[in-house]
Amino acid sequence: MKPFLFVTDLDHTFVGNDTALKELSQYLSQHRQEYGTKIVYATGRSPILYRELQQEKKLMQPDALVLSVGTEIYLDSQDTPDGSWSAILSSGWDRELVLKIAQSFPELALQPDSEQRSFKVSFFLHQELAVNVLPQLEARLLASKLNIKLIYSSGVDLDIVPRTSDKGQAMQFLRQKWNFAAEQTVVCGDSGNDIALFAVGNERGIIVGNARPELLQWHEEYPANYRYLAQAVCAGGILEGLKHFGFLE
Ligand code: GLC
Ligand code: MG
Repeated sequence: MKPFLFVTDLDHTFVGNDTALKELSQYLSQHRQEYGTKIVYATGRSPILYRELQQEKKLMQPDALVLSVGTEIYLDSQDTPDGSWSAILSSGWDRELVLKIAQSFPELALQPDSEQRSFKVSFFLHQELAVNVLPQLEARLLASKLNIKLIYSSGVDLDIVPRTSDKGQAMQFLRQKWNFAAEQTVVCGDSGNDIALFAVGNERGIIVGNARPELLQWHEEYPANYRYLAQAVCAGGILEGLKHFGFLE
């Protein structure tokens, strides 16, 4: 068997079904040991919230971490994000101005301090308001020549990040660094901030059975035979997808 690059979202994807998570983790550790498969967690969580989940669920040690919706990549150290990635994101990014403009929208409520990061400004926004607010906010930010992208997930979370950054671009950075072909790369997710993982190239995609409407809608609009919609939920859906693509017997 050949090694592959395994990139997964955490909340409601890798995590959410303890029995299946155990089975999947055992399989992945064994594959890593025998063939050199690499494991990456790609989450919207900040380092603080990631560590909370890691301890609570006793998650296996990954080979790299993509945190804060792709704006931070941790390779050798869990304390300092990769500097070459931060350098790519810095160009045209003005955090203070992004915050100032966004805060002039009363519909947006700031997320907790721990989730405000160097390259990520995050708010809560009600789903019913999002349809109107998102285009207006984007237009205002772009009019100020800001190099930004809006990522809306789960009908509540709004992240504003540099345009050159999301989970998909962070995944590509690692894939190229470690030399994995797209056919030997598997990405897994359930919600809006995972769309970038599936959209960036033709990596093998697994959408878990409990996916959110925003991801399902996107998948219906842009179907692809290298993407699999599982029946089972969370890690159970990942196991099902790995079998579908022949990464697991
Ligand atoms: C996680 C983060 C939050 C972000 C959300 C969606 O929940 O903690 O800040 O908005 O993911 O990316
Ligand atoms: Mg998720």
